[in-house]
Amino acid sequence: MELRDSVIVVTGGGSGIGAALCHRFADGSPRHVRVVDRDREGAEAVAASLRAGGVDATASALDVTDRSAVEELIGGIIGDLGGIDLFCANAGIGTGAGADADDEVWDQAWQVNVHAHVLAARALLPYWLDRGRGYLLTTASAAGLLTNLGDAPYSVTKHAAVAFAEWLSITYGDRGVSVSCLCPQGVRTPLLFGSLGDGALATEVVKAQRILEPEDVAESVVEALGAGRFLILPHAEVADYELARASDRERWLRAMRRLQASLGSP
Ligand SMILES: NC(=O)c1ccc[n+]([C@@H]2O[C@H](COP(=O)([O-])OP(=O)(O)OC[C@H]3O[C@@H](n4cnc5c(N)ncnc54)[C@H](O)[C@@H]3O)[C@@H](O)[C@H]2O)c1
Repeated sequence: MELRDSVIVVTGGGSGIGAALCHRFADGSPRHVRVVDRDREGAEAVAASLRAGGVDATASALDVTDRSAVEELIGGIIGDLGGIDLFCANAGIGTGAGADADDEVWDQAWQVNVHAHVLAARALLPYWLDRGRGYLLTTASAAGLLTNLGDAPYSVTKHAAVAFAEWLSITYGDRGVSVSCLCPQGVRTPLLFGSLGDGALATEVVKAQRILEPEDVAESVVEALGAGRFLILPHAEVADYELARASDRERWLRAMRRLQASLGSP
């Protein structure tokens, strides 16, 4: 897709990967960037810095799991700006928890990491199908193709996020709706260092990864959107890991158990 003259919405735009996406999209001369985050200050700071760089940008503070707020956001932007060309469902949370996490933790991970994508797609699809054109980028994770040691709700919901993006691409890809799914490993953001739990395993899991900067991820995204590619792997090695998992699941599980044992128990 072309960034020039496009109307772009980025959820989780107030921090980390979302903020880097907003800044990178701004280089492509979009018509408008809407920075969405439940953190009002973060969203407004990113929008203000885009405006300072000469880009038309505004902020919306909302929770992406709030269905009426998401419908109002999408309807409002289409009404005010005449359309949405690219919607990035990027907001996400880690839990740092295992199978014994409280139901509320499991539910919150589902709501933010998966259901928010459903809410956005449900509001956008009728409009995009009618117009014959639209682009949805969802941020999942390499955890959605592999696993995330020490975080069961994150691993499970990110797999579901990948599955939903694939389903959308298969169902609507020939009707003008493009879908890409971003699956990075470690990226230097507050999420990686904040909410993956504070135990020794979380620290070792982080140390075991090749950590990219959010700006590197944003660069990969812009390249993939230009090519209209579904799977975005800023860490290219994830393709090899996924192949190894698919070609011999028992061997992959044994290797992952060894890795977990070497890093410590949850
Ligand atoms: N950092 C990593 O290592 C990494 C790796 C793979 C995937 N990801 C994914 O990238 C995405 C962005 O994460 P990040 O690393 O930039 O983290 P981050 O914490 O820096 O940014 C996430 C943003 O989402 C916002 N957010 C969270 N829940 C929200 C909600 N319910 N409504 C609205 N906004 C909400 C937060 O306020 C925050 O500004 C997430 O989906 C995350 O799972 C991150």
